[in-house]
Amino acid sequence: MRKVNIKNFKKTLSKFSTGITVVCVKSNNFIHGKTVNSFNSLSLNPPMVLFSLGNYSSSISKFTKTKYLSINILSSKQKRISENFASSSPKLKNIKFLDGKNKTVILPNCIANLECKLIDKIKKGDHIIFICKILELQSNDKLKPLVYFNSKYF
Ligand SMILES: Cc1cc2nc3c(=O)[nH]c(=O)nc-3n(C[C@H](O)[C@H](O)[C@H](O)COP(=O)(O)O)c2cc1C
Repeated sequence: MRKVNIKNFKKTLSKFSTGITVVCVKSNNFIHGKTVNSFNSLSLNPPMVLFSLGNYSSSISKFTKTKYLSINILSSKQKRISENFASSSPKLKNIKFLDGKNKTVILPNCIANLECKLIDKIKKGDHIIFICKILELQSNDKLKPLVYFNSKYF
C-alpha cells in the first residue's frame, strides 16, 4: 500500500467503472448541464439518489439554487453529449431537450431519465453532495450504457 496523493487517488478511483449521467437544471429559461459519474442510489423508501459536484465548478450556484433537476443516464451512443457537458462552456445549440413534468428538462435517447426534487446538500471536502428525491422516471431496455473506466469511454 502507498500513501495517498492526488495523482494516485485519481488513478486508483479511475479503476472503478461507472455509468455516465448528465445532470440538468433550468433556471431563468437557460439550461445548465454537467457530466457527472458520482451518481448513485441512496434509498429505496423514499426513492432517493445522490451525486456530488466540485464546489469550484463555474456553474455550481445554478445547481445549489435549484429545487428541481433531471439526471439523464447516457447510452453508449451519447459519448459526444458526455464530452460536451464536461466542458466549461457546453454548446446547447444542437442539443434537443424535452420538457419534464417538474420544471425540469430531459435529454432524449438516454438509457434512463430521472426527474428529481433536490432535498438536501451536504458540503464535504471540495465537493457538495446533492441528495435528490425521485419524482418521475423512465428507462429503455434496448439501449446499452455509456461506461467510464480508466479515464476512457467504453
Ligand atoms: C466522465 C466524467 C465524469 C465527471 N463526473 C463529475 C462529477 O461527478 N462531479 C463533478 O463535479 N464533476 C465531474 N466531472 C467534471 C465536470 O463534468 C466538468 O468537467 C467540470 O465541472 C469542469 O467544468 P466547470 O468548471 O464548468 O464546472 C466529470 C467529467 C467527466 C468527463
